[in-house]
Amino acid sequence: MKHSGRSEPVSLPGARAEAAAGSWHEAYRGEPVLITGGLGFLGSSLAHRLVDLGARVTLVDSLIPAYGGNLWNIRGIEDHVRVNIADVRDPHSMAWLVRDQRYLFNLAGQVSHIDSMRDPETDLDINCRAQLAILEACRRHNPTLRIVFASTRQIYGKPDYLPVDERHPLRPVDVNGINKLAGEEFHLLYAQVHGLRATALRLTNTIGPRMRVKDARQTFVGVWIRRLVEGKPFEVWGGEQLRDFTYVDDAVEALLLAASRDAAIGKVFNLGGPPPVTLKKLAELLVRLNGGGEFAVKKFPADRKKIDIGDYYADDRLIARTLGWRPRTDLRAALTRTLAYYRKELRHYV
Ligand SMILES: NC(=O)c1ccc[n+]([C@@H]2O[C@H](COP(=O)([O-])OP(=O)(O)OC[C@H]3O[C@@H](n4cnc5c(N)ncnc54)[C@H](O)[C@@H]3O)[C@@H](O)[C@H]2O)c1
Repeated sequence: MKHSGRSEPVSLPGARAEAAAGSWHEAYRGEPVLITGGLGFLGSSLAHRLVDLGARVTLVDSLIPAYGGNLWNIRGIEDHVRVNIADVRDPHSMAWLVRDQRYLFNLAGQVSHIDSMRDPETDLDINCRAQLAILEACRRHNPTLRIVFASTRQIYGKPDYLPVDERHPLRPVDVNGINKLAGEEFHLLYAQVHGLRATALRLTNTIGPRMRVKDARQTFVGVWIRRLVEGKPFEVWGGEQLRDFTYVDDAVEALLLAASRDAAIGKVFNLGGPPPVTLKKLAELLVRLNGGGEFAVKKFPADRKKIDIGDYYADDRLIARTLGWRPRTDLRAALTRTLAYYRKELRHYV
């Protein structure tokens, strides 16, 4: 299946692909890097990579139980990172933490769409108000810091056209989308007005080892995988919606690449993945790769249907053209690696 507007995944061997994207690895050696949400799925995966690259990594995370933070995510690098259990809503902690950093990967967030509708104030505080406070801390205490913000495809809402490029209207369908949009806009505003060196990446569904599988707060794929590994049937709601999926290592690569390039400052880029699939096809592939399993296609629950965006997949050619980023991992490899991880590690995630 080939869709215009998407960069094709490339299966270049690591070194050649890196050369294609330009060498940026040295940018991190010996450098102080702060990751908010650093014990979560993306933050901890980024931390593993940064430790490999020789960076001096500090993680800040509140470890609120309902969210994706998990100390098991940093197993293997726990002696090579500083962990600061703090809340990004605390401006005093953030003012202290951003000092003397070279890079900030700003990934802390309340990620559940449905929670944002049930408890909109908390989502507002974390995804909007705290983001402004973090940027104020940077402006006052470290204005040359390089910042990358994890934004989301959720801010587009229900697409008018596919694939969705960065010029698509922004019409979030839930409170989380509105607050993430505000968070993104604050980053771009501070870049434009105060000269902060910030970039925003609009992530699509990202999957891989260390994602939350306890419940569907982060992604429905997490629960599917959990139930498959436990030998239980899972539910597919609707089934015909098209989605694209970025493998976590590719998302990490995009974050690192974006922070290392001046061409990305003040800009916003979509991330995509391999060609999109329907949720039903995704479920079938997962069952096949698992060597068995069952799922039932069900009607969307009413409260979720109201905030569902229908089909979505990203046009990620802007980041391909500007920074040379392309997703490298196909869906089969992404799911195979994720399943293998949870077959071994599930007990640490439930
Ligand atoms: N995973 C995806 O598919 C996806 C898609 C689009 C955007 N994003 C964005 O990427 C970022 C990271 O997402 P993730 O998938 O790793 O989710 P995650 O839930 O695993 O990570 C978020 C982390 O932020 C921490 N956190 C939440 N509130 C905090 C607070 N007040 N103070 C300090 N830490 C706090 C959580 O404990 C968690 O460890 C989020 O901002 C999310 O909106 C993720």
